[in-house]
Amino acid sequence: MFGKLLRKKTAADLPSYEERLAAAKERPMPVHIAIIMDGNGRWAKQRKLPRIAGHHEGMKTVRKTTLFASRLGVEVLTLYAFSTENWKRPKREIDFLMKLPGEFLSTYLPELVENNVKVEMIGSADLLPVHTKEAIERAMQETSSNDGMVLNFAMNYGSRFEISEAVKKIAVQLQQDELALSEITEETVSKAMMTCHLPDPDLLIRTSGEVRLSNFMLWQLAYAELAFTEVLWPDFDEHTMLTIIEDYQKRSRRFGSLEGNELT
Ligand code: FPP
Repeated sequence: MFGKLLRKKTAADLPSYEERLAAAKERPMPVHIAIIMDGNGRWAKQRKLPRIAGHHEGMKTVRKTTLFASRLGVEVLTLYAFSTENWKRPKREIDFLMKLPGEFLSTYLPELVENNVKVEMIGSADLLPVHTKEAIERAMQETSSNDGMVLNFAMNYGSRFEISEAVKKIAVQLQQDELALSEITEETVSKAMMTCHLPDPDLLIRTSGEVRLSNFMLWQLAYAELAFTEVLWPDFDEHTMLTIIEDYQKRSRRFGSLEGNELT
């Protein structure tokens, strides 16, 4: 009996991946996860491949992550697919990135529909090539009646642009006497954002070891838990995501208040 009690833990004593998954599902799941998918270029470089090969592999990670998040019961997954700053990249790379939504959706749309995923987009569609816009619009239409996880692509998205546009909208409402100055609250601002119909992210993940927000959802991430992993986006998988979620579930989110038992 004592032999058993004193025995050192071995790998066989550790919970299996499936057990960890089941336990994580029992605990509060982040409702909205936002991801800065970074490291495609370095992944390709490590393999002496062109950068676009990294983006192509990254597209497959988008599929895996979407299915996994949906299986976990996450309600919104926002993926930073192209920033307003990404236009500064070489034309060949931009052209390739603009083709990815089309390839992704023509390959995986039936699977997204099967999994009740609803495709949405934030960002400014104006500058996107017609074929990119059409692919996203078609996916949005075909999934519009789905009520499962929202897969929200941030395409040609920049947070400062989004905030400036929100300020303009509010200024017009003020000018036209639809809103009084005293009525401008945090809620008014949130409602003027491109994410007006979505909850704020609970968890932000950035891959590839970079520790910055790069103009991504600056308003919406005010209270999010931040997770940075060294893993490059094409290598990001269910195991990495589960470890991050387990870590998130251990954190205490106080939103500026105190722990429950410290409140008295
Ligand atoms: C950043 O990595 C990544 C991007 C700018 C593009 C992200 C796009 C995808 C992962 C594919 C999107 C797929 C769909 C379906 C829209 P980086 O190129 O800056 O990597 P690096 O820092 O290692 O150079």
